[in-house]
Amino acid sequence: MTLTTSDDYVLGRSPEEYERLRAQACMWEPETAQLLDRAGLAPGARCLDAGCGPGEAMRLLAERVGPAGQVTGIDVDARLGAQALGMLQAAGHRQCLFAPVDVETETAVPGAPFDLVLARLLLIHVADPVAVLRRLWDLVAPGGHLIVQDYDLLTGEVVPALDSVEEFRRVALGTFWRAGRDLRLGLRLPELHAEAGLGAPDELEVAARVGLLPALAPLYEAVHRSLLPTALSLGVTTQARCDRWLETFARESAGAVGHGAVAATDREREMQAAHLVDTNSVETVDLMGPTVQFLTAPEPRDDVPCVMRGTIPPGAIVPLHSHGDPETFLAISGELEGLSHSGDRFRWVEIHPGDVFHVPGGVKHAFRNLSPEPAVTIIASTRRIGSFFREVGTTAGHSEEAARRFLEVSERYGYWNATAEENAEVGLLLQP
Ligand SMILES: C[S@@+](CC[C@H](N)C(=O)[O-])C[C@H]1O[C@@H](n2cnc3c(N)ncnc32)[C@H](O)[C@@H]1O
Repeated sequence: MTLTTSDDYVLGRSPEEYERLRAQACMWEPETAQLLDRAGLAPGARCLDAGCGPGEAMRLLAERVGPAGQVTGIDVDARLGAQALGMLQAAGHRQCLFAPVDVETETAVPGAPFDLVLARLLLIHVADPVAVLRRLWDLVAPGGHLIVQDYDLLTGEVVPALDSVEEFRRVALGTFWRAGRDLRLGLRLPELHAEAGLGAPDELEVAARVGLLPALAPLYEAVHRSLLPTALSLGVTTQARCDRWLETFARESAGAVGHGAVAATDREREMQAAHLVDTNSVETVDLMGPTVQFLTAPEPRDDVPCVMRGTIPPGAIVPLHSHGDPETFLAISGELEGLSHSGDRFRWVEIHPGDVFHVPGGVKHAFRNLSPEPAVTIIASTRRIGSFFREVGTTAGHSEEAARRFLEVSERYGYWNATAEENAEVGLLLQP
């Protein structure tokens, strides 16, 4: 049985994915072992591994608490949990137990409270990490420890850059992002602790793995395969694009002996320094005709603006809509018209290269490009609108499914879209 109530899990639940989790567990074993030892985990202690997956971290716990201790693993995936328990008991760790528990919805965990609760690579997969953190803390006995290890997904980078790795990052990060996951969760752990009312963590560690690309390539490929069904359903990639990627990546990574996957901390340093943005490799989203390129990616923080390059192809429109986020458009090339609304009146305004068109928050507006050339603007707005574009963007242009998702996501963001009739009244014909 597989208790998969969390069907918004981004990764797969296949034998190949379980193998990948075991390989990933080996990679992080030294750091986890060190943290357990620093917490002074001793024989006889009672531990919980939340989101235990293949049970490799349960093994580390069992080795330390010995036969007099107890190790409980919980996971939403009962099939994987049963495999984990089989492996542990076959290795003689009879103090291990497994219970199928969804940490997002269930509060009762058999055997609580625990001297130590471990959550490794779990929070990145839940919709409300703050609530889960609070729940896990409630399971810790007085004087006990909560150890949380998780990724900052923006740091996984290859230097020098390779197009196929950039495509991997586009798909992987886009999928996590669109599934509503926090790409910076690892570095935000102190903030999440504070929000959960746990105060500041006693200790904070940053660990990173550095390796040569040919050796790490199978892991990249396995992650790509694992999240592909979710990526397809969220419109982040297509099967054809994925097939092309697999071929190109196999070729490029095999020969990339001079390419290293770099450490998390290096990325942080680089991003904090002033730097030229490589506009050829920035993320582009298709808004059913018009496209938006993120010149600065939408950051998790609200106080950082988002700067984008918008392109409206010849004959294309941006239908009538409004949102609370102000937008400023600097026209770069091509000819464009913007719809201005004041009082009860609508008026089309010509926008030429060099013009600046400002849309205050909450104001109805639209665009049309009646010229034979693409109209390109630089857009300065909020990170919220950048996140919205990311969520609604497609890889396959206009489709009924894309239009439906656009309206659903707009509603969630509180954005208003005019009806087909209201658009027709201002001279805009929507695609059926
Ligand atoms: C990336 S794996 C990490 C496994 C293990 N902690 C490790 O580090 O090797 C994430 C695990 O969290 C589990 N998980 C995801 N959402 C969960 C939830 N809501 N409740 C319990 N487990 C969950 C998944 O089934 C998966 O086994």
